[in-house]
Amino acid sequence: MWTDVFGRNAPVEIDLGAGDGVYAEARAKREPEINFVAVERLLGRATKIAKKAVRNDLVNLKVLRIESWYFIKNLCSPGSLAAITLRYPDPWPKRRHHGNRILNRVFAEDASRAVEKGGLFKLTTDDLEYFEWSGKEMAQCPTWVLEPTWTGSNEPTSEFEELFAKEGRNVYRRAWRKA
Ligand SMILES: C[S@@+](CC[C@H](N)C(=O)[O-])C[C@H]1O[C@@H](n2cnc3c(N)ncnc32)[C@H](O)[C@@H]1O
Repeated sequence: MWTDVFGRNAPVEIDLGAGDGVYAEARAKREPEINFVAVERLLGRATKIAKKAVRNDLVNLKVLRIESWYFIKNLCSPGSLAAITLRYPDPWPKRRHHGNRILNRVFAEDASRAVEKGGLFKLTTDDLEYFEWSGKEMAQCPTWVLEPTWTGSNEPTSEFEELFAKEGRNVYRRAWRKA
């Protein structure tokens, strides 16, 4: 499927909730050997990403306006992804809203199915409670194993990263590898 979408066979990495696409654009420019898919549910933001891809002639960056969980569950064939990136997902801090969080144990299972063996799931968040909760949800899926060597230090910035850095917020990062 991805070969048809990109017109070539290359590792595919997904940026979920890509926002205005600053991160996806930087990755696509820096790593032309990787195919990137930016997933964003808001039309205005998805359009911005598409414009960035066209303006910069980034043939390795596509954008989909769709719900992240639906995309991972229904549109990604098993083992078809090299990595999934989730940066600053909406934390939905109130307990009664936790059902809206992208990352939960069902998502962890779906993501594990979509990612190839040895592939990565990378999480960056400014919300400590979400970070700890995510760890527990991911642990429900035994195929995800914590990847202690990933620090995120090589990751380009994003819109929300810049915003939170200005506010002096702490940032929490963690990656899991598919066993
Ligand atoms: C806090 S922003 C972070 C944006 C970007 N990742 C960054 O680091 O700048 C969260 C983004 O995820 C998008 N989003 C939230 N829930 C989503 C979902 N279920 N599917 C797709 N996008 C979603 C929002 O529209 C928003 O653009």
